[in-house]
Amino acid sequence: MYNSKIIGLGKYVPENVVTNDDLSKLMDTNDEWITERTGIKERRWVKAGDGDTTATMGVKAAKQAIERAGINKNDIDFIIFATLSPDMYFPGPGVQVQHALDIKTVGALDVRNQCSGFVYALSVADNFIKTGMYKNVLVIGSELHSHGLDKTTRGRGVSVIFGDGAGAAILSREEDTSKGILSTHLHSQGEHAEELVVKAPGMGTRWVTDIIAEDNKDDESYFPYMNGQFVFKNAVVRFSEVIMEGLQKNNLQKEDIDMLIPHQANLRIAQFIQKKFQLTDDQVYNNIMRYGNTTAASIPIALTEAWEEGKVNEGDTVVLAAFGSGFTWGSVIIKW
Ligand code: ACO
Repeated sequence: MYNSKIIGLGKYVPENVVTNDDLSKLMDTNDEWITERTGIKERRWVKAGDGDTTATMGVKAAKQAIERAGINKNDIDFIIFATLSPDMYFPGPGVQVQHALDIKTVGALDVRNQCSGFVYALSVADNFIKTGMYKNVLVIGSELHSHGLDKTTRGRGVSVIFGDGAGAAILSREEDTSKGILSTHLHSQGEHAEELVVKAPGMGTRWVTDIIAEDNKDDESYFPYMNGQFVFKNAVVRFSEVIMEGLQKNNLQKEDIDMLIPHQANLRIAQFIQKKFQLTDDQVYNNIMRYGNTTAASIPIALTEAWEEGKVNEGDTVVLAAFGSGFTWGSVIIKW
């Protein structure tokens, strides 16, 4: 029996910064509304024509993680790619990464768990390593939201929140089972699937034949819908539950948390969790102010930055927690 350990982290965000004031030129919104309700000041949006896609951003983050891990790309045994915004309807971006990195024909798995995608992907990777099946697994979370948002006043309740970017981790076999990923905890509640959703294209909602036949410029089913207040109320409850579940599983108290990295959904949600667990500002990492909500990419980007800033150190108890569309939610308890 082994544990798995993060031995390399990387991130990539597009250069193009979009401030709240920039958005107010596209739609009826303003810096005060966005800042007060979400904490977001700016986000990165890929510019049409600059070449970044969900897969290419994932590859850039992966290259940095591989370099920092100090391994050869051919030592990677498996690839897991979490995203809700793949380049193509199918195949998913895992195989694009395998090709772009020119790694021998290792398996590539795509995870579709929205804001919880990276936590789900880490859990899968961790269990492949724990059973001895693989030694080094590349886990990526990457999103390109900006090309799929309704940037008119009609879509302002959602489009101001989301940003583009990618993060990656190399998970590797750890012989000392007191170190690395101690446990992962995953949940879902599909009865709320339509509270945060992009319905089309989907064979159960808009058939491809319909899409071809019709002029869909006014069809809102292609854009994200979010019941914001319902999502908020569920998020604060589920975040708290799943963090507590992870602590209890490992006989830890809230005082044992050195660093909490929540999915960067909304600063107000993170502040609620911080208060609930009585954590200081130094014990919770937030960067939503700069990147917005990058769903599956938000935790690996935040974890990479926390590590780069020296805020995650050997021996620390690090907690990752996510909640999002599905609903799905989860946590990862790590002894760094
Ligand atoms: N700019 C200005 N006004 C806006 C905007 C905007 N971007 N968006 C909505 N409004 C207006 C609405 O039209 C409404 O106007 P009205 O009162 O005249 O009808 C008013 O602001 C209030 O709208 P609400 O939707 O009720 O705003 P609310 O206070 O609920 O805030 C928010 C919206 C920020 C989305 C909030 O519900 C929230 O924080 N929800 C949590 C969901 C979340 O964090 N989602 C992130 C993605 S999911 C995830 O990662 C877990």
